[in-house]
Amino acid sequence: MATSLTGTQERSGRQAYILGGTISPFIGKNHPDFVWKGHSDFGKRDNPTLEQTITAAVQGALTATDVRAADVDRAIIGNFVGELFSNQGHLGAAVAAADPGLRNKPIWRVEGACASGGLAFASALDAIAGGADVCLVVGAEVQTTASARQGGDYLARASHYARQRPIDDFTFPALFARRTKAVHEATGLSELDLGRVSVKAYANANRNPLAHMRAVHMDLETAAHEGPRNAKFLGNEELRDYLKVSDCSQVSDGGAALVLVSEAGLRKLGRNVTDATRVLACQVATGDLYVDGDPLRLPTTAAAAARAYAQAGLGADAIEVAEVHDCFTITELLMMEALGFAGPGEAAAQVAAGRTEIGGALPINTGGGLVGFGHPVGATGVKQLLELHRQLHGQCGAYQVPRSLGVGLAANMGGDDKTAVITILARG
Ligand code: CAA
Repeated sequence: MATSLTGTQERSGRQAYILGGTISPFIGKNHPDFVWKGHSDFGKRDNPTLEQTITAAVQGALTATDVRAADVDRAIIGNFVGELFSNQGHLGAAVAAADPGLRNKPIWRVEGACASGGLAFASALDAIAGGADVCLVVGAEVQTTASARQGGDYLARASHYARQRPIDDFTFPALFARRTKAVHEATGLSELDLGRVSVKAYANANRNPLAHMRAVHMDLETAAHEGPRNAKFLGNEELRDYLKVSDCSQVSDGGAALVLVSEAGLRKLGRNVTDATRVLACQVATGDLYVDGDPLRLPTTAAAAARAYAQAGLGADAIEVAEVHDCFTITELLMMEALGFAGPGEAAAQVAAGRTEIGGALPINTGGGLVGFGHPVGATGVKQLLELHRQLHGQCGAYQVPRSLGVGLAANMGGDDKTAVITILARG
């Protein structure tokens, strides 16, 4: 297959492994620890800044894996718009600031909208293929410094801003409402169908102490209907009926970081392969930013997935657990179809049958996904990979899948299916 990653990884013959890492609590509105003007801690403490979030992720990952900063050959950070939410760019140097042992190491940032974390991981794999033995992969975003409406404008930079920004103040919610409308018209997809995806996300988040929505309960009656707790908030009259608050990922702050090593890195650090997670495949596909795709499909995601399955030598039926980019409930359904978990138009029936629940045949987004766990955009792709690592090694506590798992898939998406990073992992 002709992509740089497959090419470099396969040509180099260097296997890569995830050793472990850390995920910060994802916080924001409706999280008990998030400080806002009605909170009892208001004026007494502040929410973590981007600087603190990056520092905590880096230090946390090194501690969790018992790796010294001095042993790190390369570090990469994924972040989307630190310049807008935090007036801060140049984040490679922010990673270097987190530990004196990282000074003068090669460290830089990559950006691919909400796929920035996945791209950081893909870049670290390229570094491993190129001879690095120990890499640090970091993802971070702080978004609550702006109102949801102002944040909607910042996030719209991941769309074709000149053309798509006027669709709605909430550009991305509107772009995915457009998809929901199209799927509804083509297949009869209902608010109940989308409500089930949301209810699963919140139920999983309620079992996850790190989740943004860990303390918010969602029932099907609320999720499937417009109501005081569940507004249809788009200004665009044509799209307004096709999206409610319960369909949306959260505006979250958070960070995640993991340590990725080569086989030589494993030996150098004295680690056992059985404690690590093997990277079977990672593929990146990129679509045309300036044209709308088919609203019923995610072809960029499907292209990356097809190459990832070929690289891993596996089919969709081999995947036992998945993290998919549910930036909106409709996206989870379209992802299931693009990844080959369901035929076209068939994903909603699988959700209704319970297949994607923690106890189902193919658990999806067991920690709550972007809707329940939260979506600090640069952190999401790294968090997804750590979630799989934890599921594969039985470390997910109350949301652990109750059977032995061998193979998992993560799908991280930037923009409206414009950047896709598909990664397939296997236990040890
Ligand atoms: N009745 C009527 N209107 C209401 C309402 C109610 N009960 N509650 C909210 N609204 C309306 C109001 O118009 C309000 O705006 P104003 O206050 O400015 O008038 C608007 O909805 C937003 O309300 P809030 O500010 O209270 O919103 P919130 O803080 O609860 O956030 C949300 C809810 C708007 C859905 C927010 O969570 C959100 O924007 N989520 C999506 C985040 C997003 O788009 N992330 C990117 C995903 S795309 C991706 O992943 C790919 C990529 O590359 C970008």
